[in-house]
Amino acid sequence: MCGIVGYIGNQKASPILINGLLRLEYRGYDSAGISTIEKNGLSIMKDKGRVKNLYNLEGIDNLTGTIGIAHTRWATHGKPSQENSHPHMDNSKTFSVVHNGIIENYHELRNFLTEKGYTFYSQTDTEVIPNLVHYYYNKDEKNDDLKFLRAVKNACSDLKGSYAIEIICKNHPNCMIVTRKDSPLVIGKGENENYISSDIPAILSFTKNFYLLDDFEFAILTTNSVDFYNKNLEHIQKETKSIEWNAASAEKDGYEDFMLKEIYEQPTAIRETIGAKFNDSSKCEFDELNFTKEYLSSLNKIYFIACGTAMHAGLVGKNIMEKLCKIPTEVDVASEFRYRDPLVDNKTLCIFISQSGETADTIAALKLCKEKGAKTLAVSNVIGSSITREADYSIYTHAGPEIAVASTKAYTSQVVLVAILAIYFAQILELDNKQINDLKKDIIELPKKIEETLKISENVKGFSKKIYQEKDVFFLGRGVDEAVAKEGSLKLKEISYIHSESYPAGELKHGPIALIENGITVVSIITEKHLVEKMISNIQEVITRGAKTLVITNQNVDENMFDMTIKIPETNSFISPILSIIPLQLLSYYISKEKGLDVDKPRNLAKSVTVE
Ligand code: M6R
Repeated sequence: MCGIVGYIGNQKASPILINGLLRLEYRGYDSAGISTIEKNGLSIMKDKGRVKNLYNLEGIDNLTGTIGIAHTRWATHGKPSQENSHPHMDNSKTFSVVHNGIIENYHELRNFLTEKGYTFYSQTDTEVIPNLVHYYYNKDEKNDDLKFLRAVKNACSDLKGSYAIEIICKNHPNCMIVTRKDSPLVIGKGENENYISSDIPAILSFTKNFYLLDDFEFAILTTNSVDFYNKNLEHIQKETKSIEWNAASAEKDGYEDFMLKEIYEQPTAIRETIGAKFNDSSKCEFDELNFTKEYLSSLNKIYFIACGTAMHAGLVGKNIMEKLCKIPTEVDVASEFRYRDPLVDNKTLCIFISQSGETADTIAALKLCKEKGAKTLAVSNVIGSSITREADYSIYTHAGPEIAVASTKAYTSQVVLVAILAIYFAQILELDNKQINDLKKDIIELPKKIEETLKISENVKGFSKKIYQEKDVFFLGRGVDEAVAKEGSLKLKEISYIHSESYPAGELKHGPIALIENGITVVSIITEKHLVEKMISNIQEVITRGAKTLVITNQNVDENMFDMTIKIPETNSFISPILSIIPLQLLSYYISKEKGLDVDKPRNLAKSVTVE
């Protein structure tokens, strides 16, 4: 979950590297560091804490090297400290390495290298890599152009786990080697310069042309070239991919925080994700998909598999798939699914939702489903991400880069895309036309209704001032609103550090109501007409016990009952979560601001979770 950046060209590398790290800081912010090749050899500057600390390091302004690697860390092995910060060097200070991932057999490799006389100065798993490269480099008697690459390749053959690695060597000052397995890495192609990054937005202001490296492949970068090799070190060819995102979309654009900007980008994100899907014909089409009535009718179930917020989008998807398409649907957390020995076979369609497309647990679950013979479909926001490269089919949300750790526009875009997918399935299955057409119409009206909802939801700011010092908050819902309660609760936890719980409202009386006491805040969502009365009864039960209540609804309710009501526009209950989550996103945002917290980079979290 760390971020890595690399540069090779004719410009001074250090400012470019630090700039890239600042944009990748959402991936981890326990420590940061850069390594460049200077006239007198390799230089390393690193420290614990945020990337901006690098500006204060003595000598950082004197660096003139035009090749360098950089890292921002989310600590796994070894506490955040100067010595555990990347880059790491081998004992002879010939190789410098940054690494994102986890080397699972590092103990074994450390013992092996210690026996060979190597010393370790950090507690990290990464430090074995430069030393292993050094070991193989010295053993190699050939002194040809590929000696450096062979050493990296031999070292990587010993590694178990996941890695995206950049490595530079003082004996080869005009090149950099990169490789990856199960951790993200993109190569940006510039004019007489090349870039490396963990993701595209960090280097979008330099280039829009990218190479994607597959697992076990290697690339040698020089100022004017990028050469690719497969795991047997055979030379291979790759084409660049162009990305349509613009650099401004990765900037705050006048907003105080990325999260706020991304909340307000939801009308556009939804509009772009709907795209031309309903434009010309009466049928909704996905160019990327070719499902038949025969295949969809043969399914024993659909599985949505994902993590965190993306899993909550799956919960909404289950409701739509079962009610609209009449296909039994299950939802599972990727990290649990994998170890459950799940009942998946060639009659199961497994749908993986992932904004980043790089979540390690989700990728592992996808690989498992493929082994079991299921068809796999990825729903991602990042073209060319690992998940989309592994899956049989991929469809994309068009939310643009999501930088804030707390997911907002990606979630609502996932929900709308899954709803459109359900319409596509229902059409193929020749199911209830009226239900399909009603949903289509409501999806088309969504961007306008999101704009309205954003205006109305500003009112939660006042409520946030009343509750920001609370220790516990409860979220209640029934039916599809329970999925929204879960997502609202997750948003609050991650950016405000307030403990929160979400419950199906009817479940309260089976235990959790014991926690309701005078003054506690209960947030409820009511968008399902047939559940209004039941919800009101459950809310009444907490009011009786002294709870403060906030209700998000599009139904006719007696607003006098509650401390605050946010009345959102009416829409189809399949997609109401897209509207009802908005006041909850803003509530969490304002509470976090009221507490003076870093909204975009909450403690202990990283945007893209590339470790298991
Ligand atoms: O990139 P992914 O969608 O696979 O990420 C999954 C989760 O890590 C992510 O949704 C996480 O829960 C967010 N921080 C929630 O706001």
